[in-house]
Amino acid sequence: MTLRLVVVILVFGCVSCKSSYKICVPQQHLKACEDMLQVETKSKAVLECVAARDRMECLSYVQQRQADFVPVDPEDMYVASKIPNQDFVVFQEYRTDEEPDAEFRYEAVIVVHKDLNISNLDQLQGLKSCHTGVNRNVGYKIPLTMLMKRSVFPKMNDHTISPKENELKALSTFFKKSCIVGNWSPDPKTNSAWKSQYNQLCALCEDPQKCDYPDNYSGYEGALRCLAHNGGEVAFTKVIYVRKFFGLPVGTTPASQSSENPDDFSYLCVDGSKRAIREKACSWAARPWQGLMGHNDVLAKLTPLKEKLKQLAESGAALKPQPEWFVKVLGLSDKIHYVADNIPIKPADYLMKANYTDVIERGHGPPEPVVRLCVTSNVALAKCRAMSVFAFSRDIRPKLDCVQEASEDTCLKSVQDNGADLAAAEDMNVAGAAKKYNLHPVFHEVYGEKKMPNYAVAVVKKGSQYTKMEDLRGKRSCHNSFESFSGLHAPLFHLINKGLIKNDQCVKNLGEFFAGGSCLPGVDKAEHNPLGTDVMNLKKQCTSDTDHSPLSCIEGNRGDIAFVSSADLSNYDSSKYELLCLNRDAGGRDSLDKFDTCNIAMAPSRTWLSAKDFLSDVSIAHTPLSLAQLLSDRTDLFNIYGEFLKNNNIIFNNAAKGLATTETLDFEKFKTIHDVLSNCGVA
Ligand SMILES: *[C@@H]1O[C@H](CO)[C@@H](O)[C@H](O)[C@H]1NC(C)=O
Ligand SMILES: *[C@@H]1O[C@H](CO)[C@@H](O)[C@H](O)[C@H]1NC(C)=O
Ligand SMILES: *[C@@H]1O[C@H](CO)[C@@H](O)[C@H](O)[C@H]1NC(C)=O
Repeated sequence: MTLRLVVVILVFGCVSCKSSYKICVPQQHLKACEDMLQVETKSKAVLECVAARDRMECLSYVQQRQADFVPVDPEDMYVASKIPNQDFVVFQEYRTDEEPDAEFRYEAVIVVHKDLNISNLDQLQGLKSCHTGVNRNVGYKIPLTMLMKRSVFPKMNDHTISPKENELKALSTFFKKSCIVGNWSPDPKTNSAWKSQYNQLCALCEDPQKCDYPDNYSGYEGALRCLAHNGGEVAFTKVIYVRKFFGLPVGTTPASQSSENPDDFSYLCVDGSKRAIREKACSWAARPWQGLMGHNDVLAKLTPLKEKLKQLAESGAALKPQPEWFVKVLGLSDKIHYVADNIPIKPADYLMKANYTDVIERGHGPPEPVVRLCVTSNVALAKCRAMSVFAFSRDIRPKLDCVQEASEDTCLKSVQDNGADLAAAEDMNVAGAAKKYNLHPVFHEVYGEKKMPNYAVAVVKKGSQYTKMEDLRGKRSCHNSFESFSGLHAPLFHLINKGLIKNDQCVKNLGEFFAGGSCLPGVDKAEHNPLGTDVMNLKKQCTSDTDHSPLSCIEGNRGDIAFVSSADLSNYDSSKYELLCLNRDAGGRDSLDKFDTCNIAMAPSRTWLSAKDFLSDVSIAHTPLSLAQLLSDRTDLFNIYGEFLKNNNIIFNNAAKGLATTETLDFEKFKTIHDVLSNCGVA
């Protein structure tokens, strides 16, 4: 009986296990994945699409057998190799048609003039160097990784400046002149300050003032032009471009015409020897190919899957333009779609083989700096740790460290006491926290398509005649909740500031100003009204049902004005409603989409604060800002604003679209508002 059951399970289990495979896709590409399932192939292996939040979540899905495999970059393999108890295997490499037999995607090489008098890498000191661009693999990360192991290379562990500035300073000390174009800091002000301070790093560029793309002496080929024609003595680039530059054959591509003479140059090997350009290159590290990674059980049924994938890749590559599933689901491209027959290998070994682990893990010398983010729950701690290893794998430094405290307040206190570097506050707490714990804002969330802070706005019906707040005396109002900036703090401050109400019992005065009655949800909660003041007028327009939203209030004609956040405006019909421009002295009105110029005040976004006079702001903000910048159009890699383990608003609000330095926030105004409202017992 039992035996028969086992046999049945084995037989049926194997019928499906033989031919069915679950590919994990980021939610946003599920549709494309389902399109892929419709593609006819000779192989009868069956694929199934399993959607996860993003590639990071796919890694856990594969590990937990909710999916079988996922397309990944080498950096994702690194993240995977760090998951406890993982059994991932890289079972399929994706290569280019041009170089189907190349072991690596690109090999980092050093090219010098043949006659350069050099016999070891230490003698690169004082030379003029040519690079692809900042933060790039072969032209920046790999040279730094290798050079910093040598004692002649300047130390990069000065903790009074950021890790990135340490790199720039060391490079500009080590080399005489260079060309390293690109964005050196995600903060534009820091970027231009560094460009002038370390201007030798731009001196060899076509346009040293700009020192940015496009520059004739940047990029893989540009670095070689810089070497051959702009006074460069050493270039850091990759093999395939060296061969193309000198007209030598590359993989399946035959030799071509070139005015450059390969016999005038040499490769410089790690041991200091030189090798002719016509020979096989000597490299010091390589970036491995992208590929597919699965759990260990997939190995038992690999052949039909590989067959299936090969056929899909071929059929997708043949279509012009290439279908979305080809690019977004399988991770292939016009250039990279050759499905190689490599032997399955553990991700850590795969990276090691290329010396790429060193490149990913490159540091700045002990003690390695960290930036400590304070979080208030176990879920947030897990998310912070996931962000930390992801950012680290993508070369973002300093490393993010995570500190857990019981509450937002204890986190802020911990920053004050130097137990953490960053803690978040929201709404009016931002100004309050700054004052109470002597902190200052460093960066904040931005929202919406335009990636801006939110604004407190006043919505009125299109037919009405109001142009300023005075016009609404005696009328009716609808509000976002009592705790909110848009519903209470902004309109209240406006009324006090314009002298329309007195700043003694200001909530009560608000109720008297809108004598027709209001709906301010939460106004009657005991904690908001400790003196038991009569606030009935501020509840008068709330209906008995549970929907106390300002939208239902103004739509139900229970109010003449609604105080809401620009984030809510997408729910309002622009043919029926307009904004009142209370930020302008003359008042006036404008359409709903003009909230950034027609509003009551900018709202304090969720903001991260740091202690005064510690590290410079940009250094502390560098990691979160770089992470946000990297992910701004790659939410498929890691959607840090998405739900995490089924929880919303963990570390960041789900509504956030990015992070920005806090210069754009009118922080002084928030402090003024906070002070004025504290005086009358609100905020
Ligand atoms: C090459 O450099 C070495 C030591 O740096 C020096 O002794 C030698 O004279 C140099 N050779 C030439 C040809 O410049
Ligand atoms: C780039 O530099 C090379 C070599 O200096 C030169 O021949 C070429 O005309 C330049 N191209 C442009 C677009 O300036
Ligand atoms: C890795 O480093 C060693 C020595 O440091 C070097 O010989 C080897 O070529 C490197 N591997 C690659 C793929 O560049």
